[in-house]
Amino acid sequence: MNSQELLNIVEEFGSPVYVYDAAKIEYQYQRLTKVFSKVEQFKVHYAVKALSNISILKVLKQLGSGLDTVSIEEVQLGLHAGFEPKEIMYTPNGVSLEEIEAVAALGVQINIDNLSILEQFGTKHPKTPVCVRINPHVMAGGNANISVGHIDSKFGISIHQLPHLLRIIENTKMHINGIHMHTGSDILDVDVFLYAAEILFETAKHFSELEFIDFGSGFKVPYKKDDIETNVEEFGKKLTKRFLAFEKEYGRPLTLAFEPGKFLVSEAGFFLAKVNVVKQTTSTVFAGIDSGFNHLIRPMLYGSQHHIENISNPKGKERFYSVVGYICETDTFASNRRITEITEGDILCFRNAGAYCFSMSSNYNSRVRPAEVLWYNGKAHLIRQRETLKDILKNQIEITL
Ligand SMILES: Cc1ncc(COP(=O)(O)O)c(C=O)c1O
Repeated sequence: MNSQELLNIVEEFGSPVYVYDAAKIEYQYQRLTKVFSKVEQFKVHYAVKALSNISILKVLKQLGSGLDTVSIEEVQLGLHAGFEPKEIMYTPNGVSLEEIEAVAALGVQINIDNLSILEQFGTKHPKTPVCVRINPHVMAGGNANISVGHIDSKFGISIHQLPHLLRIIENTKMHINGIHMHTGSDILDVDVFLYAAEILFETAKHFSELEFIDFGSGFKVPYKKDDIETNVEEFGKKLTKRFLAFEKEYGRPLTLAFEPGKFLVSEAGFFLAKVNVVKQTTSTVFAGIDSGFNHLIRPMLYGSQHHIENISNPKGKERFYSVVGYICETDTFASNRRITEITEGDILCFRNAGAYCFSMSSNYNSRVRPAEVLWYNGKAHLIRQRETLKDILKNQIEITL
């Protein structure tokens, strides 16, 4: 999308606003399926948590994707968007047995990541096919918060617990049809992926009825021009070779699955906000925008670097700015960033705003959440209205004092 198209969207729908480019989602989806084109049964399950607007889910459905979900509400959103239950994978962590049973009753593929629930579920529902999430104990991921496959992580069943896992399966006679891992987000090193995959292949040999192996996600996407990213083409080539060899050894056809979030939607998203105030202090120049970490928490939460451009003055002289929000505590999007000269009223564009941005937004400071717009076939479609005070008051119950 170009700057004028983005400015037109602000003109029409106001600011702040999230914009998603459907063509970029499609490009990334096709890119991934192409690198695994030699695998007969290849499946993508889009990680709904990254961006869960039902119109985005519909775009992914049209492309042929399934869904990866982590809550019964995400499952219900997927069903609402038109997905068949069998196209949905449910990978919760720390949820109740009751919720897992309710999701299984909908016909969705469940993925269990602890032995306690596995034993209880298998005892009650031995005929329901279950996938198991393995923790291969590989340190991978861009930072500690998004590294989930290591020894101290709460996710998955440790590979060291394999004997106990197999005993539960034998005793309950349950049907394990899939094996899964997800070791973290922003994994750069292809060899780390491949190393973890080897552990999963080794573990898979202990299960005789597998239909699929799900390698999770974690592809690192570029956050600015010339930024490093996971080389999915190299990875695809190497994993395909290894997977086809394993499939032969296993003796049954297997589906190779991934569940990317960021890879599919991160670069498709733009967050547009207006500069309310330019404030010169003794130490810096602040550009204060009509938003805050209530709308985009990633920089404050994990130090994410979202590239920021002043699309109202793209050719201006560059200066150093600290871009801050209006929340009444430290609320910094970027410090000492080189941005073309900013005047009050200019529109700043935050890149990589598709994944974990709107979906992590809140009403903190009693601020309403922004609108969402989908750019589809050269037209802007409003896919979520900007909230109003009514939304903030909606579930509140006023008592009479
Ligand atoms: C189980 C699982 N699968 C997939 C994903 C998507 O990861 P990413 O957005 O890095 O592709 C996540 C992210 O947290 C996850 O927890």
